[in-house]
Amino acid sequence: MKSSSFLLPLLSLLSLLCPSLGTKPIFLRRFPSQAHGSLRPSADGHVSSSRGWETKYYTQTLDHFNYHPISYVTFQQKYLINAEHWGGAAASAPIFVYTGNEGPIEIFAKNTGLMFDIAPKYYGTSIPFGSGAEENATTAGYLSTSLVLADFATLIVDLKRNLTAQKSPVVVFGGSYGGMLAAWFRLKYPEVAIGALASSAPILQIDPNFNPFVFTSIITNNFKSTSENCYRVIKNSWDEIDRAVASNTGKEKMEKSLKLCTGGAESAKDWIDGALTLVSMTDYPTPSNFLQPLPAYPVKQMCNAIDNPTTGNDTFAKLYGAMNIYYNYTGAAGECFNTSVSATERIDSDAWSWQTCTEIFLPTGANNNESMFQPSTGTNLEWMTELCYYYYYVKPRFFWLTTEFGASSIKTALKKFGSNIIFYNGLKDPWSGGGVLKSISKTLVAIVAPKGAHHVDLRASTRDDPKWLQDLRTSEVQIIKKWIRQYYRDNSISSSI
Ligand SMILES: *[C@@H]1O[C@H](CO)[C@@H](O)[C@H](O)[C@H]1NC(C)=O
Ligand SMILES: *[C@@H]1O[C@H](CO)[C@@H](O)[C@H](O)[C@H]1NC(C)=O
Ligand SMILES: *[C@@H]1O[C@H](CO)[C@@H](O)[C@H](O)[C@H]1NC(C)=O
Ligand SMILES: *[C@@H]1O[C@H](CO)[C@@H](O)[C@H](O)[C@H]1NC(C)=O
Ligand SMILES: *[C@@H]1O[C@H](CO)[C@@H](O)[C@H](O)[C@H]1NC(C)=O
Ligand SMILES: *[C@@H]1O[C@H](CO)[C@@H](O)[C@H](O)[C@H]1NC(C)=O
Repeated sequence: MKSSSFLLPLLSLLSLLCPSLGTKPIFLRRFPSQAHGSLRPSADGHVSSSRGWETKYYTQTLDHFNYHPISYVTFQQKYLINAEHWGGAAASAPIFVYTGNEGPIEIFAKNTGLMFDIAPKYYGTSIPFGSGAEENATTAGYLSTSLVLADFATLIVDLKRNLTAQKSPVVVFGGSYGGMLAAWFRLKYPEVAIGALASSAPILQIDPNFNPFVFTSIITNNFKSTSENCYRVIKNSWDEIDRAVASNTGKEKMEKSLKLCTGGAESAKDWIDGALTLVSMTDYPTPSNFLQPLPAYPVKQMCNAIDNPTTGNDTFAKLYGAMNIYYNYTGAAGECFNTSVSATERIDSDAWSWQTCTEIFLPTGANNNESMFQPSTGTNLEWMTELCYYYYYVKPRFFWLTTEFGASSIKTALKKFGSNIIFYNGLKDPWSGGGVLKSISKTLVAIVAPKGAHHVDLRASTRDDPKWLQDLRTSEVQIIKKWIRQYYRDNSISSSI
C-alpha cells in the first residue's frame, strides 16, 4: 500500500488515478512556442526560477467547512507562479491556473507555461501537520477533494487581491485527477473561474458501478491494433510467468532472460503490467519524460521489440525487449532490473492511497477473456473496505463523490446549469472510458482525439507534433478565447483578445 501508484489500476490492489504529465502552456495573449517558460526541475527536484517561475507559499486554512477550533490550524500551501507572459492587472489580463495533481508539483509543472500551479493539500510539501501526517488518519482526514477545491478558491481570490487583479478572468486547467479538479472547480466556484479545460478527466468513473472492464479493454486494443503477435505474446506470458515462478530453475531462467535482479521474478507480473498500462497512457507522438523517459509512440516500440527480439526467441526474451523500452530507454537501469521499483516510482504518494481509501474509487482492473492481461473480475468493494480499514482505520465512502459531484447523471445536470468546460480525451488513453466524449451543450464541449493519449494536449508543444495535435490545441485556444471575450463584454472591459 505504501508504494501504491495512482497510475496503475489495481496494480497495488487499489484502483488509482493517473497524473498529469508535463503540461502544455496556454497563454492566450502570447501563445508560447515549445518549452517557453518551462520549469526545469533539477535532479533533486528543485525548480529553477531562471525561466520566470517563482515558488511561493500561502498560509492556508486547514478546513473551510466548519468552525471547530482545529479547523483554524494553518499550513503552508505551495504554488508556483510565472508572470513573464502576463498582460498585467491594468489590462485585466487573464490568469491561467493549473489545478495541481496527486504528486510533487514540480514534476507536474514541468513543461508547463501556465501562470500558476497549486499543489493540493498533502502532496509534495503542502502537508498540514508536517510530513508523515498523510499516513495518519487523524491528520490526513483533512485531505478531501472538496477541501482541495476550497483551498484553490481561497488562494486564487487572495492572489488576485494581492495583484489588484480582481477583474482578471481566471481559467483553470488540469489533466487527469487535476482535470477532474478543474471541471469540478468550475462547477463549484463559477464566480472564481470563468471556464475550465478538463483534460483526460474520468469524471464518470468515480461511480463504483462504473464498468471495470473498460480500462484494460482500451489498453488491450492499443496493443492488438498495433500487432496481433505482440498481443498474443503478452496475453500468453502471464501463465508462463506463473509456471516459471513455481519452480527454482524456471525462476532462474526467467530472471536471466528478463534480466531481473535475483529474486525479482515474484513481483515481475506487477512490474510488467505497470509498464504496459503506462505506455498506453503515455503513447505520445514525441519523446517524453514524465514517469520514465520514453521514445515517441512507445506502444509501437514495445511491440516492435516483442515482434523482433534481439536477445532470444522465448517469451521472456521478448518481454525483456519490451520492458527495456519502458524501464531502460536511456540506458540508466544498470545491469539488472529491480522489479520492486514501481513503474510510477517518481510520483508515488501515500496521499493518493489515502484518497483511494476514502473517496476516490475508480473501477478498473477487470479483464475479460479477450484482455491481454489475465482474466479477472475487478475489485470487490467489501474486500477493499477491509483492506482500507486494515491500513488506515477508515472505510471508503464509495458513494460520497457521486453525491457531491454527480457521476452518470452529471451530463444531464451539466446541460441545465453548467457552462464553459472543455473535456479533452484521447482514445488511446485507458482513462478515456470514464471521460465525457460527447459535447453536452454549446459551451460544454467534448474534444476527442482518436490518436491521443493521456492529456497530450497539455504537453509542451514541439516542432514534431503531428497536425492533429496542433489542430486540437488550436481548437482549445479558440474556445477559451471565446470565454474570455464574453467575460470582457459582460464586464465592459476593453481588450484586444
Ligand atoms: C497523528 O499525527 C498527529 C500529528 O503528528 C499526532 O499528534 C497524533 O498523535 C497522531 N495520531 C495517531 C493515531 O498516530
Ligand atoms: C497576499 O499577501 C499577503 C501579505 O503579504 C501574504 O501573506 C499572502 O500569502 C499573499 N497571498 C498569496 C496567495 O500569495
Ligand atoms: C529467432 O528465430 C528466428 C527464426 O528461427 C531466427 O532467425 C532468429 O535469429 C532468432 N532470434 C534470436 C535473437 O535468437
Ligand atoms: C540498460 O541499457 C544499457 C545501455 O544500453 C545496458 O548496458 C544495460 O545492460 C541495460 N540494462 C538492462 C537491465 O538491460
Ligand atoms: C530494489 O528496490 C527496492 C525498493 O526501492 C529496494 O528496497 C531494494 O534494495 C532494491 N534491490 C536491489 C537489488 O537493488
Ligand atoms: C472466460 O471464459 C470462461 C469460459 O468461457 C468463463 O467461464 C469466464 O467467466 C470468462 N471470464 C471472464 C472474466 O470473462
